[in-house]
Amino acid sequence: MFKKDLLKDKRILVTGAGTGLGKEMANHYAEHGANLFICGRRENVLKETATEIEDKYEVNVNYESLDIRASKDVDDYVGRIFEDAPLDGLVNNAAGNFISPTKDLSHKGFDAIANIVFHGTFYMTHSVGKRWIESKHKGSIISILTTWVWTGSPYVVPSAMSKSGLNTMTQSLAAEWGKYGIKVNAIAPGPFPTKGAWERLNPNGDDGSVMGEVPLGRVGEMGELQNLATFLMADGCDYLTGQTIAIDGAQYLTGGGTFSNLDKLSDDEWEQIRTMIRSSNTKDKADRG
Ligand code: HXC
Repeated sequence: MFKKDLLKDKRILVTGAGTGLGKEMANHYAEHGANLFICGRRENVLKETATEIEDKYEVNVNYESLDIRASKDVDDYVGRIFEDAPLDGLVNNAAGNFISPTKDLSHKGFDAIANIVFHGTFYMTHSVGKRWIESKHKGSIISILTTWVWTGSPYVVPSAMSKSGLNTMTQSLAAEWGKYGIKVNAIAPGPFPTKGAWERLNPNGDDGSVMGEVPLGRVGEMGELQNLATFLMADGCDYLTGQTIAIDGAQYLTGGGTFSNLDKLSDDEWEQIRTMIRSSNTKDKADRG
């Protein structure tokens, strides 16, 4: 879809890139020429991912173990990167989540998610953004959200609340930082199965039906998400900012509609319904004389 040098020499930081969606996006950035900084909590996983990417593409991948909940560690890490040269892009991908009835959550359980998603993502965005402003360097921020930012979602309330806050951050900072050449967008992926997310959100291991129905009749393909993440990171569409883009096969629009379940009706059932509607129209007309 893109020229292989689209992101050549860009320096991009992807949080939580040791596994899952972060690793997939990092791979695609490297394939298009970017040098990478990847961080996450597990050093061994990061090291493996960094080696794997460097072996495949002619780019540098720096990895460092970092918990984004620790605000000072985040700022020190970003400071060290900028000592060499500014970053060009940041992908806020690191997250935490599990399904649970909200009444059974402890306050510590709520904090475990909110501290990673809501606080940690802000720390990272702030540490990078303020340095871009200081150094008058343009940059692109992409946060990985979910479609729950528009619909809310039962059983994942700490995540839905936190990601909604980041949706507001995306809109607010696009407006506040536009004058500095910083674009701020977000992606709201629907079901893109990855081991980490699926084990926590779909522990029964079924085919994804627990996630609701997708009009396209399938889960997302990783290449589709990678292409969107690369398009948003590249130069050439800077006027696109402050947006959260859903990539979910129209799942959330369908699930939210009053008539979504009509999707299941057969042609015969539709014919019966048409007949019933026509007969009640005819009766109405007769009643009106
Ligand atoms: C109820 C739970 C729980 C669970 C943890 N807690 N798991 N409560 N149900 N399944 C509670 C604990 O009991 C404890 O509270 C508190 O949370 C802290 O637990 P810790 O295990 O000490 O927390 P921590 O080590 O910080 O772990 C963070 C974590 C964990 C988020 C809870 O799951 C984790 O590290 N996950 C890895 C990242 C991840 O989740 N990736 C998937 C992201 S998918 P008490 O009071 O008992 O002490 C995603 C969106 C996908 O974000 C969207 C798909 C459409």
